[in-house]
Amino acid sequence: MPKVTTIAVSTSGGDAPGLNAAIRGVTACAHARGWRVVGVCDGLDGLLLPDDYPDGGLVNLTPENTRDIADKGGTILGAANDGSPSMERVGQLPDVFAHHGIDALVAVGGDGTQAIAYAAHMQGIRVIGAPKTIDNDLEGTAQTFGFDTAVNVVTDALRSIRDTADAHRRVMLVEVMGRDAGWIALYSGVAAGADAIVLPEFPYDKRGLLTSIREALQAGRRSVVVVVAEGARLADGSVVSAPRDTGGIRLGGVAQHIANDIQGRVDRHVRVAQLGYIQRGGTPTAFDRVLAQMLGAAAVDRLSAGDTGVMVGWDGKAVITTPLVDVAGRIRTVPYDDPVLHTARQLGIYTGA
Ligand code: F6P
Repeated sequence: MPKVTTIAVSTSGGDAPGLNAAIRGVTACAHARGWRVVGVCDGLDGLLLPDDYPDGGLVNLTPENTRDIADKGGTILGAANDGSPSMERVGQLPDVFAHHGIDALVAVGGDGTQAIAYAAHMQGIRVIGAPKTIDNDLEGTAQTFGFDTAVNVVTDALRSIRDTADAHRRVMLVEVMGRDAGWIALYSGVAAGADAIVLPEFPYDKRGLLTSIREALQAGRRSVVVVVAEGARLADGSVVSAPRDTGGIRLGGVAQHIANDIQGRVDRHVRVAQLGYIQRGGTPTAFDRVLAQMLGAAAVDRLSAGDTGVMVGWDGKAVITTPLVDVAGRIRTVPYDDPVLHTARQLGIYTGA
């Protein structure tokens, strides 16, 4: 395999805390090997849409200009989500890479990004994926970076909501992100001592939820806090969503739907809070910074070892690699035998599972 001298790093999909730490990890490790690192602006758009980037869609990354970015939310490179032509134009990458003298790519992102990385691999690009998403729903890793921060943000929010719910003796339904996986809802619900958690993995059961709310009130709780994952399914298996401006659907509104369903059937006022995008921003936790830098550096290690077409991940003890073909287009949801789900049951938190 030809020697690597220049690599590109891209961040795409919805942003997540830890992206900048991953960029730092890639840059520091690659420079230590004597490689040049370029950051691609806005996912791969900086390379694939040259007309939109008259000043060039690449940023030179050095240990100096990335030294202090690990604690910053968002991504200094920008991200591209749906609406980006990366998948349709992936066939142009070999020529574009040759034109810029780029030998390999570290693609930092979620399942969509890993699918593009796999397509790039099939075009002959040397590529390593690194797993980010607040949703924690990627195969090939026990945890994605961004998740820990999102769980902390939600847990803090649930604490505040408990205060106001207690003051007014209310039932509060709090809708959180996570797409079709309930990881954020589950972990934050357990961390914050929620009374019930409605997960996408187990269809919403009105009778079961109402019973759990009534039991909590009978047991003397001043308030009831229910965490609702945005992807929670109604009894008929459908999700609550709105059309997306770029096509497809955008999840949201299921907590209000459930509130309408139970209002009047419990002896309390029911209110809804949709936490929204604050879950994606903010300072990454120390854990996410460590994980992101570790996986960014590990991606460079894998390139150096001659690997391609794999994603680096963390199994709780060691860095692992998984072929991109086993990650692309798949999602990892909460299984019935998940230990944290089991803990929720042991704590008496209603989950419907
Ligand atoms: O995948 C991360 C995520 O924040 C999901 O939890 C959420 O459903 C989605 O992105 C929102 O995406 P967008 O930025 O496209 O509205």
